[in-house]
Amino acid sequence: MRTSGESAAGWFPVARADEVGTTPLPVSAGGRAWVVVRLRHGGEVSAFPARCPHRLVPLATAAVVDGRLQCAAHGWRFDGEGRCAEIPSLGAGGTPPPRADLAGPWAVEERAGWVWLAPDRTAHRAPARPGGVPAVEPRREPPAPVGPVFGNLDPSLEHAWHPVALSTELRDGGWLQVRLLGRTWTLSRRADRLAAEPPAAGVRERLGLLWLAPAEPHDVPLEVPEAGDRSFVAGWLPPLRSPGPAGPLADTFLDATHGPFVHPSTLAALPETGPYELVREPGGFRSVQEQEVDNPVDPGVATGERPLRQRRRTTYVHRAPFQLRLRQEFLDSGATTTLLYLLQPEDADSTRIYVRLMLAAGPGQRLPAPATVVEQVALQQQVLEEDIRSQAALLLPGLPLDPRDEVHVPADARGVALRQALCDFLVAGRRGRLAA
Ligand SMILES: [Fe+2]
Repeated sequence: MRTSGESAAGWFPVARADEVGTTPLPVSAGGRAWVVVRLRHGGEVSAFPARCPHRLVPLATAAVVDGRLQCAAHGWRFDGEGRCAEIPSLGAGGTPPPRADLAGPWAVEERAGWVWLAPDRTAHRAPARPGGVPAVEPRREPPAPVGPVFGNLDPSLEHAWHPVALSTELRDGGWLQVRLLGRTWTLSRRADRLAAEPPAAGVRERLGLLWLAPAEPHDVPLEVPEAGDRSFVAGWLPPLRSPGPAGPLADTFLDATHGPFVHPSTLAALPETGPYELVREPGGFRSVQEQEVDNPVDPGVATGERPLRQRRRTTYVHRAPFQLRLRQEFLDSGATTTLLYLLQPEDADSTRIYVRLMLAAGPGQRLPAPATVVEQVALQQQVLEEDIRSQAALLLPGLPLDPRDEVHVPADARGVALRQALCDFLVAGRRGRLAA
């Protein structure tokens, strides 16, 4: 990522040498955040900028693997000079682009039991021997992106329907307080009539949720064919909160390449391979990919009716701002799993997450058993908790909208489309406000 113009010449003490091991240590030098780490036990100290250039994940959460620094989210690996040596989503033969390299400090040195860092070129080749205990700068947070970001309080969000509660959270005759876009609303239900206070442009019930539109909405509702299909059984995850904005969270739900790193035990490490087709649609986009994968849980495999290796189609649908549908179909048996992710931007640093799981066994099969739904909901909840933990470490005010603030690789096509859709949404909101 680009850094702000701030720079400071000279050497800065950042940590005691014995504090720096093979776990990255966040430090500050010259007013900028860095991490220092030894890529081998007892080896020399390396210094890196505070964030991975890909999705700006703080490298304080990275790990040393095989003598390289490995980012916690997508496994990008950097050598001691900051050169990006490996990007797993590019496949075995893939070469990282030059932009993936980290812009490290000019130099890092160990001297008199301390680690010193020179962010920029300086006339002195080494730090001076300190007279006493050197003064270490207070640690800085990793930098915010330079360009604009899409945060939870973006004014364009006024003009959309947002989920604010499960339908079951508001009984008839009752009321409920919810947070949305940094404000509190009181919803009430009388004889099946919904009302909001302060008044809103709209309140409605859809897909088992209550929705609120603060101002005239211009978003495109997400279509969910599974909702009216009697071959599906469904269950809600208990709504959870993420201590960060909705944009990066939606980005994570659209991303298949963080699985082996963020969900090593909960999701089978089946990297999504090959390109996928992505089509822009009104209010968002759709991506479709077909792959051949093993399907050991198919009862038809045990009876010999179908082979172990089967065709699977994965479809992602996004509608701005934060509505997502992920459908996985085994084309031979018809068994389908659909997940809806619907996000409520409550406050700048709080997003409530509604996830609905919908399962079908396929034509001619019995409906999936209630125990299967309970089991799958529990698994998805574990996966979601892992995603929330990784979001909590991200420390971003929103989803970066300037392509120069991140490095995109082919596997990020959905992420790029999400950023474009949110840019379009933001521009449409501005036009709407100007016209009003
Ligand atoms: Fe995830």
